[in-house]
Amino acid sequence: FSSPRSTAKNQPPMVKYTIPFLGNTIEYGIDPVKFLQKCQKTYGDCFTFLMLGRHMTVTLGADGNHFLFNVKLKDASAEGAYETLTVPVFGKEVVYDVPNALFMEQKKFVKDALSTAAFKTYVPIITAEVKDYMDSVFKNVPAGKEIEMETFEAMSQLTIRTASHCLMGKEIRDGFLTKLYHDLDAGFAPINVFFKWLPLPAFFARDRANKEMTDLFKSIIKKRKAENDTETLDVLNGLMKAEYKDGSRPSDDAIAHLMIALLLGGQHTSSTTSSWMLFELARRPDVIADLLKEQSMVLTGKPDTPAHLLPDLTYETLRQLSLMDCVMKETLRLHAPIHTIMRLVENDVEFKGMTIPKGNFVCAAPQVSHLTESKFPEPYKFDPLRHMGSDEGSGEWTINGVDIAQKSARSLFLPFGAGRHRCIGEAFAFIQNKTIIALFIREYAHRLGTDPKTGKQWFPEPDYTSLITIPKVPRKLLVKKKEVAA
Ligand code: HEM
Repeated sequence: FSSPRSTAKNQPPMVKYTIPFLGNTIEYGIDPVKFLQKCQKTYGDCFTFLMLGRHMTVTLGADGNHFLFNVKLKDASAEGAYETLTVPVFGKEVVYDVPNALFMEQKKFVKDALSTAAFKTYVPIITAEVKDYMDSVFKNVPAGKEIEMETFEAMSQLTIRTASHCLMGKEIRDGFLTKLYHDLDAGFAPINVFFKWLPLPAFFARDRANKEMTDLFKSIIKKRKAENDTETLDVLNGLMKAEYKDGSRPSDDAIAHLMIALLLGGQHTSSTTSSWMLFELARRPDVIADLLKEQSMVLTGKPDTPAHLLPDLTYETLRQLSLMDCVMKETLRLHAPIHTIMRLVENDVEFKGMTIPKGNFVCAAPQVSHLTESKFPEPYKFDPLRHMGSDEGSGEWTINGVDIAQKSARSLFLPFGAGRHRCIGEAFAFIQNKTIIALFIREYAHRLGTDPKTGKQWFPEPDYTSLITIPKVPRKLLVKKKEVAA
């Protein structure tokens, strides 16, 4: 189980611990951000800590981010770090189960399918899904009456409905098996990064769910082939047309597995983002008022058109909601869904004159960079306007030959990562979350709940127990449908 410490000279300083094997696991597990910030103060931007017998070297700061996101494939790999975790959930022939060059081609297929033409069809789909879901939640609730909304649960529902409908097609949305998703997701156990193939009961359900979900996608692929549907601009159709450089095509299994990977990759990341956006906005009615004014200006040319009279959003109008962009970026800065990003070191590699030895994990921590005071004054303050006019945190993503994100990886704001593993769902995530929040604040008013013990306003703490940082329970908001003057 334990990896012995390498004898390489000039290694990064080792963080102190008392219990062998366990090392710093508990402190990191409770609050990785605080733990890494504390270590940074003592040891600087590069140090190694012990987690469940594995040596984890952290590279912080803009240089540390640049190092991890652009490390050479031969020196450190995402496959080595994530393979045991992801392959059983996603399935074979895709992502970390294939050589990186092939996965890069698969990412390009998805990126090509997520075209502007496709995005234009997605905004009305998301709009209809949000209305449909919120109507069902408020079915028997009169306007003006406040209810408690389990925010993460509600946002998870909205995310899965909108993503499955836009990216995977109407058939999946209609026949979507929530139980299958649940079982797959439960098989995503962080402990699997360190221990291979543990026979946990959840893993049997995971394997069954993967098979059933694969079969479901394959039956849809078969049906679409028979119907020769080339009109629908979802990712599934994009992948069905895709061709590798060598002229071969992804198998139906590979297409199904890529769809599962996208579903899993985008679900908690997006639903936690919209949840935190609502929590942050609940403390800032002034920002909500500005967001409504922005929608009114963009959609009607006047600042005060009542929300219920605003026309539907389109892809073009959504793009003009710059304050909403800033709200999402500021939320990602304070609540980056992926707090630690890992690679497995395959050969001894140098960082700032230190040797990070083969066998260590190397990690970047975007959430720690996001709180750097010299870059973000008053770093814990929710201040969306600090992003106005800046394109940092989002950027173009190119591939194969072209240096992907060399320029932007030396940055302190990287919620979507950088380099060859950079997120391909970023543009979709902006469309999805901006539409959800824009529609939500039009029709609903929300505020923070109260802590039953203290009676004080309740703002959730981050929950770091899974791979994605989500709001800790209780994570309720008090929500009411706005009354419309007759
Ligand atoms: C990669 C964040 C939404 C699919 C990444 C990475 C980050 C990230 C930080 C880099 C991981 C690494 O370097 O190891 C986010 C955030 C999201 C989001 C913050 C939402 C707010 C999505 C969505 C999808 C998606 C909606 C799918 C439609 C992917 C894929 C990768 C990726 C396929 C590539 C993994 C790799 O190359 O190894 N994402 N993501 N993400 N994301 Fe996202």
